[in-house]
Amino acid sequence: MAAPHSPRKAGTFVSTISENTQDREDDQNRSDAQNRENAQNWGAAVGLQGDRITIRGGIPLVGRIELKGAKNLVTKAMVAALLGESPSTLKNVPNISDVRIVRQLLEVHGVKVTDGAEPGELLLDPVDVESAHFAAIDAYAGSSRIPILFCGPLLHRLGEAFIPDLGGCRIGDRPIDYHLDVLRKFGAVVEKQPNGIRMSAPNGLKGTKVSLPYPSVGATEQVLLTAVRAEGITELKGAAIEPEIMDLINILQKMGAIITVDTDRVIRIEGVERLEGYNHRALFDRNEAASWAAAALATDGDIFVGGARQPEMLTFLNVFRKVGGAFDIEDDGIRFYHPGGDLKPVIIETDVHPGFMTDWQQPLVIALTHAHGVSIVHETVYEQRFGFVDALVEMGATIQIHRECLGGHPCRFGQRNFNHSAVITGPTKLTGADIEVPDLRGGFSHLIAALTAKGTSTVSNVGIISRGYENFITKLQLLGADFDLEG
Ligand code: EPZ
Repeated sequence: MAAPHSPRKAGTFVSTISENTQDREDDQNRSDAQNRENAQNWGAAVGLQGDRITIRGGIPLVGRIELKGAKNLVTKAMVAALLGESPSTLKNVPNISDVRIVRQLLEVHGVKVTDGAEPGELLLDPVDVESAHFAAIDAYAGSSRIPILFCGPLLHRLGEAFIPDLGGCRIGDRPIDYHLDVLRKFGAVVEKQPNGIRMSAPNGLKGTKVSLPYPSVGATEQVLLTAVRAEGITELKGAAIEPEIMDLINILQKMGAIITVDTDRVIRIEGVERLEGYNHRALFDRNEAASWAAAALATDGDIFVGGARQPEMLTFLNVFRKVGGAFDIEDDGIRFYHPGGDLKPVIIETDVHPGFMTDWQQPLVIALTHAHGVSIVHETVYEQRFGFVDALVEMGATIQIHRECLGGHPCRFGQRNFNHSAVITGPTKLTGADIEVPDLRGGFSHLIAALTAKGTSTVSNVGIISRGYENFITKLQLLGADFDLEG
């Protein structure tokens, strides 16, 4: 076993929410303080020189920025390297704190991670993989859900795996029941322990039939990362088919896996005895692209997002156009801009791919506060992803949140006590305020709000934004924003 690392030391992180429903209020109070501590650590991990931005709003963002690989692929691709018998090379890796967390988690498991020759290149050598202690994993996990995806590969490599209580962005309960059910189906023995979960595979892992109750991204990745080395055939029904999952499948195929993607969300995996390392350039980050597009529209700006591609963004582009935004698709990226004229209200229902991604709604809501009329956003992926609107209302937006499923089809949250539909009435002018970043995408949304607002805003906890947006401060500078970073 690797030597235990002391938890909670400087530069490490604090977990937030435990496996299943706990008392929500206790969680909330505890996690407010933890959120602040995590925000500082996340920012510091990528060299952010402050945790509070004072923004003088009203300036259109204009210029060009470059994307790197998708956070939601790169972090999983790094885990996939654990399955190889030889080193992997991953290119286009962004300098974000979620990547730092996975790097540290791999390192405590004995993987040698080094920077490659080109910027954003990582070399991952898993030849000496070893078990790590709960404390070491907990110290680095930092309220990330990634440790759960280490389980399949570690069970194959070592016959055991540990995960601490997990968190993630504060956008709902975010349980891991699908993951545990999947691992049990493969033959893992799951034991609850006081500080987390221990898993073992006394008889190895065997291919199985899995039918997911909901096309969960993480649970689909769990099946893929476990099935590729399990004995026999695995059939997964109800799979998520996000582009990031397809790129993970590309990686696994490069490693030697046999994976068939059928119609109707069915994936079949034939287990193999050995996988090698991969060499892969990660798919671009379409969530970051959509966020800067939303910023261009809300600030009356014009941003060329280098590296963005049309096929993975079709659904976003349709909505962007319906709201009144314009875009030009070029070989090396997409230009997003406000072409003039009034913005129009829309009805959006978030969904799994190929629907409108939940991660896109938060940044786009700011442009909807400028639209002439009533927009509706029905959030069907997470039960609590509208916490960020309180600050917008404080800034002058007219937004009501409802329990009912509005504007579309009834969803699984409709008959429960979840405020998951937002009604946005515009146009409203936002004015500067002191606001606190609640979660990653909500935080970017707050930045956009401050950039469009009349007067000065102070946005704190901006370290959270470094979880998923590489060099966002430099990008804001490049685009002409007027701000100071402090704290
Ligand atoms: C991934 O989260 C992304 N995170 C999220 O990105 C993204 O919003 C989400 O997929 C949906 O696209 C990463 O890839 C690291 P899920 P994941 O499992 O895998 C429920 C961002 O801002 N569920 O598809 O955790 C769950 O509560 C973020 O970049 C269970 O009930 O999402 C949710 O309601 C945040 N039990 C729904 O499924 C489980 O065991 C979808 O979650 C697992 C999930």
